[in-house]
Amino acid sequence: MKMEDVFAARDLPQTEPARQYYFIDAAKTIVGEKERQLGRKLNYCIHTFGCQMNARDSEKLAGILRQAGYVQSTEKEADLILFNTCTVRENANNKVYGRLGALSHYKKQNDAMVILCGCMMQEKHVVETILEKYPFVDLIFGTHNIYKFAELLVRAMQSEQTVVDIREDEGEPVEDLPVSRKYPFKSGVNIMYGCNNFCSYCIVPYVRGRERSRKPEDILQEIRRLTEDGVVEVMLLGQNVNSYGKTLEEPMSFARLLEQVEQIPHLERIRFMTSHPKDLSDELIDVLSRSKKICPHLHLPLQSGSSAVLKAMNRRYTKEEYLRLVDKIRTKIPDIALTTDIIVGFPGETEEDFMETMDVVERVRFDGAFTFLYSKRTGTPAAARQDQVPEDVAKERFDRLLALVQKISGEKAAQAEGSVATALVEEINAQEEGYVTGRLDNNAIVHFPGGASLIGTLVKVRLKECKGFYYMGEQV
Ligand code: 5AD
Ligand code: SF4
Repeated sequence: MKMEDVFAARDLPQTEPARQYYFIDAAKTIVGEKERQLGRKLNYCIHTFGCQMNARDSEKLAGILRQAGYVQSTEKEADLILFNTCTVRENANNKVYGRLGALSHYKKQNDAMVILCGCMMQEKHVVETILEKYPFVDLIFGTHNIYKFAELLVRAMQSEQTVVDIREDEGEPVEDLPVSRKYPFKSGVNIMYGCNNFCSYCIVPYVRGRERSRKPEDILQEIRRLTEDGVVEVMLLGQNVNSYGKTLEEPMSFARLLEQVEQIPHLERIRFMTSHPKDLSDELIDVLSRSKKICPHLHLPLQSGSSAVLKAMNRRYTKEEYLRLVDKIRTKIPDIALTTDIIVGFPGETEEDFMETMDVVERVRFDGAFTFLYSKRTGTPAAARQDQVPEDVAKERFDRLLALVQKISGEKAAQAEGSVATALVEEINAQEEGYVTGRLDNNAIVHFPGGASLIGTLVKVRLKECKGFYYMGEQV
């Protein structure tokens, strides 16, 4: 089949998702021809960097590849290697360049397709670097057109040059494309895309675009279908779920959406990510405290404990407001697990500012915290500041913070020793024979004796021993 034939066909649909299904069929024909030549199936391998959003996007990309006839494999056997990239911190970018460097030899020997997509590709300088240094890449696309993957794949399959398709504007989300889930029993569900907050260190608003919410009926329909397909736990995904629905034609709050999701039969657990403290409503706390299905866990990024740094970060809350919010949540939901994100070494951060962060950590006693060294992102306001914190100073603070965070989360986890909790069994334990691994509703991990038949089920386990980040348990 020639490219002109595919793209010039009179029956080429002009609306989505029909157009993409047309290209999935076209890809299938090309893949089928290759299979006959090689006498075997074609393999794909996806590497996902970054957050849960990217993980979900990768399931969508995998869904399209599978429908086109590819089967999943390791990188060593792959005919198509796809990197879904992240650019939130510089080290995420460096990892991708490293992998690409290592791939050039494999590409020459195996003629595999190499595809790059995701947040990093929304940055002009990245695409320029790739075209210059890694010209063997077959396809580059960004975050706003992943729904078009089938079409771009067909284009790239028939092009000698790198196909580049980056959109500046967001466009409307396209519904009802195939998805291949990593786990049969749990799934992420996008409820909104993009971010409008422009925290001064963060590149996300530039690469993921403005905030758009999916319509509640589309979200509910997707979850209903997932439950019919065996899903018992969903994770509602958005950069700032607390502002869900504000831009809809008929505005709706996140708390109302949660109440409707709760009504879906056979759905057992609801999680969500991420909450911005400035938008967390009393209505949401009420819904959380009443709910039977929403997991008692809030991920509430603090970023810094210093009101001056928070102001410079454009977070729009103070240290005191954050602490008051935590008090309010804990008064209504005493056993809630609280986790957070903290950045160390933001420009201008003094030792006193850092001690304010340590103070909040000691007062709140988070169940878990992701700690990050500030990373300068080109194009963000913070990157232009002259008062960047020297690396050694930031690193020394980071180590102190990490030690404190780990000490506290260890102590908190130990408090649950001996208690009984419900775990969703996720997989066979790779280290310990005869054991499975499950996740508690507060997101903690437990390993206990059991077999494959338990996977995807909710079971009661006694948490016999706390090992810091996880528990050893037994079924009761
Ligand atoms: N440097 C370090 N950490 C960052 N994050 C976002 N941008 C940066 C940056 N430039 C962290 C924040 C956010 C998490 C997803 O990543 O803590 O909550
Ligand atoms: Fe980045 Fe702030 Fe938006 Fe989170 S809320 S994605 S940290 S700009």
